[in-house]
Amino acid sequence: MSTTKVAVVTGSNKGIGLSIVRALCKQYQGDVYLTARDTGRGQEAVESLSSEGLKAMFHQLDINDLNSITTAAAFFKDKYGGVDVLINNAGIAFKGADTTAFAVQAEVTLKTNFFATRDMLTHFLPIVKAGGRVVNISSFVGARTLNQCSPDHQQRFRSEDITEEELVGMMQQFVDEAKKGEHKKGGWPDTAYGMSKTGLTTLSMIHARQLSKERPNDGILLNACCPGWVRTDMAGPKAPKSPDEGAITPVYLALLPPGATEPHGKFVSDKEVQPW
Ligand SMILES: NC(=O)c1ccc[n+]([C@@H]2O[C@H](COP(=O)([O-])OP(=O)(O)OC[C@H]3O[C@@H](n4cnc5c(N)ncnc54)[C@H](OP(=O)(O)O)[C@@H]3O)[C@@H](O)[C@H]2O)c1
Repeated sequence: MSTTKVAVVTGSNKGIGLSIVRALCKQYQGDVYLTARDTGRGQEAVESLSSEGLKAMFHQLDINDLNSITTAAAFFKDKYGGVDVLINNAGIAFKGADTTAFAVQAEVTLKTNFFATRDMLTHFLPIVKAGGRVVNISSFVGARTLNQCSPDHQQRFRSEDITEEELVGMMQQFVDEAKKGEHKKGGWPDTAYGMSKTGLTTLSMIHARQLSKERPNDGILLNACCPGWVRTDMAGPKAPKSPDEGAITPVYLALLPPGATEPHGKFVSDKEVQPW
């Protein structure tokens, strides 16, 4: 088994994920894995970095495919004894002008951004090594969306005692009510992407509390962050930040120095802990 340290970035064949891999290739003392659901697109991205003189490794990883997740987790466990840095970046968003029914947008968006990212964490958190860093790419939209939920829902999202099961139930309830056209009555706002990121930030806080309780001596730091509004296929050409600028906060959290104790379980933007 290799004693080399290893960093893994999901959805990193383009956009912010690719820029995170680029920055890690320059700054991280270890192997850096660019992962993608499509092997062709992933290998093209590895080659593009190679033409910049950067060496990324590749592994296939489709977070919507449980088999792909468990295969990758087993690979990193076998080859490196686990992972040192995990960045959950893969995500989707319907465009504002998309006329797909809200019920479908809710189901599809939550499936990748919340449920599949949770599947990643279910299978990868147990193999995150002592001193590890976990970064979930959420969004400021998730913080804004939290404030648009009913007071009861807001209270649960912000509570210290919400469990993963309760959160999963809330996310499922949002999808189920959206399918019936009753989500507003249920206290949920009209944004599937926003809800998916409210859920992901809350999940990050739950996992951080769990790590502190169950692995208190392992010094793992887990945070959610917003990369800012970034020019990618998702956000379009009008966004102010370049993808490399969008990578700055995620990479800062991934490279928090050994022995650091914070931030942990926070929502971070522009390298600053944000209110939740
Ligand atoms: N851009 C912004 O302004 C902004 C702001 C806040 C948060 N974010 C978040 O930042 C992250 C990256 O977004 P981006 O702007 O870089 O978007 P992007 O350019 O559309 O890139 C998204 C990446 O995720 C991958 N992906 C999607 N579904 C996947 C799956 N099931 N398994 C594995 N990979 C998958 C995509 O792969 P394919 O190429 O195969 O589709 C692509 O590599 C997302 O979580 C997004 O929500 C972005």
